[in-house]
Amino acid sequence: MSEHRIDITVNGRRHTATVEARASLGEFLREGLGYTGTHLACEHGVCGACTVRVDGVAVRSCLMLAVQADGCEITTVEGLAAPDGTLHRVQQALQDNFGLQCGFCTPGVAITLAAVLDDDPAATAQDMEAAMSGHVCRCTGYQGIRRAIRQLAGEAV
Ligand code: FES
Ligand code: FES
Repeated sequence: MSEHRIDITVNGRRHTATVEARASLGEFLREGLGYTGTHLACEHGVCGACTVRVDGVAVRSCLMLAVQADGCEITTVEGLAAPDGTLHRVQQALQDNFGLQCGFCTPGVAITLAAVLDDDPAATAQDMEAAMSGHVCRCTGYQGIRRAIRQLAGEAV
């Protein structure tokens, strides 16, 4: 298997590494760099748990090869909170509304919602729910996540 040298920036920190050609970005983030907040579940692009931002765009890291991320800026869930630990407003809304139980799907959900709001700070609850259609949560029944979305949209929760 061929190996390749890549340079990527994760949550503002530059990394240079050698990766196998077949390694997914999610696998590399977790096992190569230790960003274990990115979760891998289906590894088939279905569940959304592995979602990270690549140059600002929410991407399923199980479907992207690490070598394709050469030169890119990645944001994982570890990079959402401020350096002083203040939660991103998406994380705060999920916490306020019990938008998680086991939390396995939560990093991907938080990354997607943050991407929607960064792209359009006036995004509606409907916009955010549409983006959530690419996420499978096995245990909240979605109601906590939907309450968090309504809070983010400035609606009554
Ligand atoms: S692990 Fe990537 S979409 Fe499920
Ligand atoms: S909180 Fe358990 S899968 Fe979503």
